[in-house]
Parts: sequence; structure tokens; C-alpha cells
Amino acid sequence: MNAAKPKILVTREVFDDTLDYLREHCTVLDNQADVPYTPQTLAAALADCEGLVCALTDRVDAALLAAAPKLKAVANIAVGYNNIDVQACTARRVLATNTPGVLDDSTADLAWTLMLGTARRITEVERRIRAGEWTGWRLKQWLGVDVHHATLGIVGMGRIGQAIARRALGFEMNVLYHNRKRIAPELEARCNARYASLEELLAQSDFVVLQVPYSPQTHHLIGAAQIAKMKPGAILINSTRGGVVDDSALVEALKNGVIRGAGLDVFENEPKLNPGFLQLDNVVLAPHIGSSTEATRRAMAMLAARNLVAALGDAMPPNPINPEAHA
Ligand code: DGY
Repeated sequence: MNAAKPKILVTREVFDDTLDYLREHCTVLDNQADVPYTPQTLAAALADCEGLVCALTDRVDAALLAAAPKLKAVANIAVGYNNIDVQACTARRVLATNTPGVLDDSTADLAWTLMLGTARRITEVERRIRAGEWTGWRLKQWLGVDVHHATLGIVGMGRIGQAIARRALGFEMNVLYHNRKRIAPELEARCNARYASLEELLAQSDFVVLQVPYSPQTHHLIGAAQIAKMKPGAILINSTRGGVVDDSALVEALKNGVIRGAGLDVFENEPKLNPGFLQLDNVVLAPHIGSSTEATRRAMAMLAARNLVAALGDAMPPNPINPEAHA
């Protein structure tokens, strides 16, 4: 019975229910010790596998695919898939999948956590309390800025961008968005959001939230020139992917007061950060936890597992990235 099951590799620790489900359908090489694979160890482990459940920490490129001749499907436990060379997968008829939908609200919540936390300097003041620097109430103590009634600019108005915008209704914000193309009028109305050029959005917004996927087209979408176009009192939030922002340019801008502050969940070259961020008080840092609630990470892992099992069973999985690779 077991012999008929396809062999798969799961590159990172997953929840028990995900593993149980995968084991019902596949022979699983797991990594519950969660020791990240190197490109070399990943290639060796994948050599005779038909399926791969991977994470954004794994690079799936032409070299890896060449080392895995039996591979039929790759299921990323993430909505973003810049770690996967989709063209190379399609060329080898390897179906790739991601996990859209299940993480929208949690990721939007985290973007808001960063907005509120940066506006009210929450990590900075906590550091001051812990350092014993709070000696009592003062009228002008650690003043922040208001989020309510401010202008929010969202760059990237997919599902997560829209979820961020919908949350702004309760804060009575003026919402602008920029996107490759305008969203449908009924969605604009639901989000109470107006389309703007990137220039206008940068110039008008008190809070700029980035929610575009990372790609060669969005590499350093926000660099020194774009930051210079923002309001001096503005706050930049990157809750999407490192590389969308030029981190060195951002460190300089924050140091020189070009903008008020930044809230960051993602970084270029993570987990290594630009050391400049660590010297600054006007930045709130999080370790890529946008989707990291138990319910959401469970849902993402299970969706990835379902995608893989469907693809290996020759069905079209729920979330194909390259459906053209389906045999
Ligand atoms: C995603 O789904 O792309 C997230 O960044 C993973 O945590």
C-alpha cells in the first residue's frame, strides 16, 4: 500500500494535522527538527521525490529542479512565491501552488499593528520603561501622531491591501491606493478608497503601506527618490517583502528625519537586517510575522498540503500558480 504512495519532502516543521493528512496520501520525508536546508542538502533530499512542500526560505530554481527529475508539484506555504522560479517549473511541467486568501486578515492586522505601533512609538517607549527612564507623567512626553482621520496610502490593492483599507473605515481615514490597475468600482466603494498615481499617493499620505508582491518590477519600488516625495511627517510600513524597499536608503532617510518613522515586518536579506535599523528609535521592527497567528499558519500549511495532494493525484489543485503546467 505504502509503496504506491508518492514520496514527498516537507522542508520545514509543520503542524501535526498537516503531517497526518500528508502521510495519509504520501510517503513523507519531514523536517520536524526544522533545520533549514541549504541548496545542496535540499537538492540531495529531493532527488527521488515527486512532491515538495516548501517555504519562502527555500529557493526552488532551475538547478534544484534539474536535481529532482521525478518532481511533479511544489506547494509553497506562503502567498508570495518569489522564492520559486515559476518559468523554470513550467518548463519542466512542475505545478507550483501558493496559499492565497487564508492569510489576508491576519496580514492586514499586522500592517495595522505596525501603523499604530509606529505612530504611537510603542516599542520605543517600552524600551524606555524597561531602562527605568519613566519618571512620571509629562504633558509633552513621547508625543506620537494620530492615525484616525489621517490619510492612508496603500500601494498594492490585492486582497490584503483591501483588507487593510477596510480596517481604515473605523478610523475614519481618507484612503488612497495605487495598483497596477484600478480595482472594480464596487470594491473601491467597499474600501472607501480612491485610486491615485504613486506620486500623488506618496505626496498626500500620512501612512504609506506597501502590499505589492516582490518581483524584478517591484525591486526597490521605494528608494531614496520616492521617500523624498513623502510628507516629512509620514510613516512607511513594509509588511509585504524585503527588496520592495531599498533598506539602506530607508535607514538614511530615517536617520536624517526625511520621514517620521517606519514599521517593518520584512527586510532585504532577512534574517540579517541592515544594522542601521537597530540604532534608530523611529522604526518598529518585526521578524516577518505578518501571517503568524496559530489559526492562519495552520490554515496555510493545510492548504499547501491539500494543493500538493491534489496535484500529485493529477487533479487541478485549488491554488495553482502555473496552471499551464498541469498535465
Ligand atoms: C506569505 O504568505 O507570503 C508570507 O510572507 C509568509 O509568511
